[in-house]
Amino acid sequence: MTESGSKKLWGGRFAEGTAASVETFTASIQYDSRLYKYDIAGSKAHAAMLADQGILSSSELEAIVTGLTEIGREIDAGSFEFKPELEDIHMNIEKELVDRIGPAGAKLHSARSRNDQVALDFKMYLREQCSRIIELLDGVNRAFVTLAREYLGHIMPGYTHMQRAQPVQIAHHMLAYYEMFTRDKSRMVDCRKRMNLSPLGCAALAGTGLPIDREQVAEALDFDGVTANSMDTVGDRDFAIEFTSNCAMIQLHLSRLSEELVLWSSQEFSFVDISDKFCTGSSIMPQKKNPDIPELIRGKSGRVVGSLMCLLTLVKGLPLTYNRDLQEDKEPVFDAVDTVSSSLAIMAELLENLKFKTERMAEATKTGFITATDLADYLVLKDIPFREAHGIVGRAVAYCLEKGCELEALSVDELSRFSGKIDRDVFEVLSVEGSVNSRLSTGGTSLQRVEEAVGKAEKFLGIVQ
Ligand code: ARG
Repeated sequence: MTESGSKKLWGGRFAEGTAASVETFTASIQYDSRLYKYDIAGSKAHAAMLADQGILSSSELEAIVTGLTEIGREIDAGSFEFKPELEDIHMNIEKELVDRIGPAGAKLHSARSRNDQVALDFKMYLREQCSRIIELLDGVNRAFVTLAREYLGHIMPGYTHMQRAQPVQIAHHMLAYYEMFTRDKSRMVDCRKRMNLSPLGCAALAGTGLPIDREQVAEALDFDGVTANSMDTVGDRDFAIEFTSNCAMIQLHLSRLSEELVLWSSQEFSFVDISDKFCTGSSIMPQKKNPDIPELIRGKSGRVVGSLMCLLTLVKGLPLTYNRDLQEDKEPVFDAVDTVSSSLAIMAELLENLKFKTERMAEATKTGFITATDLADYLVLKDIPFREAHGIVGRAVAYCLEKGCELEALSVDELSRFSGKIDRDVFEVLSVEGSVNSRLSTGGTSLQRVEEAVGKAEKFLGIVQ
């Protein structure tokens, strides 16, 4: 067994050095170095508070702030050497500070533990990611609303069970996704708000006997306040789980959209043209243009859902308060952040370059008895109970199937054999445009309702005043 020669910041009670294998196994610096900016900002605010409390002198504070600023610059520039034997980002920075400025650096950790420190860093990182993802969601939503405006009035089949069901506007379909991503945005806003309470000052688990001012640190770091219970604070990862759950929901929405783009760009559907810039070819089949972007986004949903499962399982069964298990919280969260961010960014670009084949989509509404419900509703307005109307139309459809034609190809005479209430005016109802524009119910697909919805969304996103 090899022993590491390095002296630990916590090494006082140890007679022997740590096994090299243990250092490798326990280190998190390979990934938690991502938190350095927040660790440094948190340490500066903590030091300023300690100085106000008389725990640090003003010259010690100055040395700490200058030292931390230098370290931060070196990390920015990539010239800082991270040491795995120093475990994590907190100790890499603190040890370096002590080496540079001496005893003043060694006072920084007064009234603080890595347990509240890591919670602080992680929350500061995640609240920033909430804001970034909210912006990315806005980008995707702007693309949907732009498409909805561009294709307003164009009709396509709407599906249930992947069977042509009722005609809808392309814009209505686009705005369905706008609604999903708007809910995702509001979930991120909530999550950011809920997490924005400062953990610092809870120390290891029980608080501290040193005179501190948690509120001052919270304010300096833009928190809305401080957490209420020190034991809860150092063991809590709800905020990370909530965030990752929101990410999973976003990725699932992206995945459903991707599935539609894959289907729609197939020759069988031929509803959309995904720009060449966003497709790839085949190494063997020269004719191929593959929708790899949506396929990858769909595929990546496994990672994000997996990250959520990882966190849920991590916390299950953990006793209060901090346990080292919690160090395993970062990689899944970072992976979820990276996956969702890159997927949202590229989806927005793809949508900005997407073209609908409107003729082909309209053509697809001409078959499949897509206005059958409208015929049933027509009979309802002529006082036939809906269930009975359903049966009448079903029999008319069966007749058409046998004849090999659509409902509107039947004559009034033929139609009236199924119900004496059917008259000439039936053809208005059987037309696809008539069907769409009759759906004036709130949230429906008529031109009037969809135009209103587009206008509202444009205002909400600041596309128009
Ligand atoms: N690297 C640790 C983590 O991510 C920091 C906290 C360690 N605390 C401790 N008492 N070992 O959770």
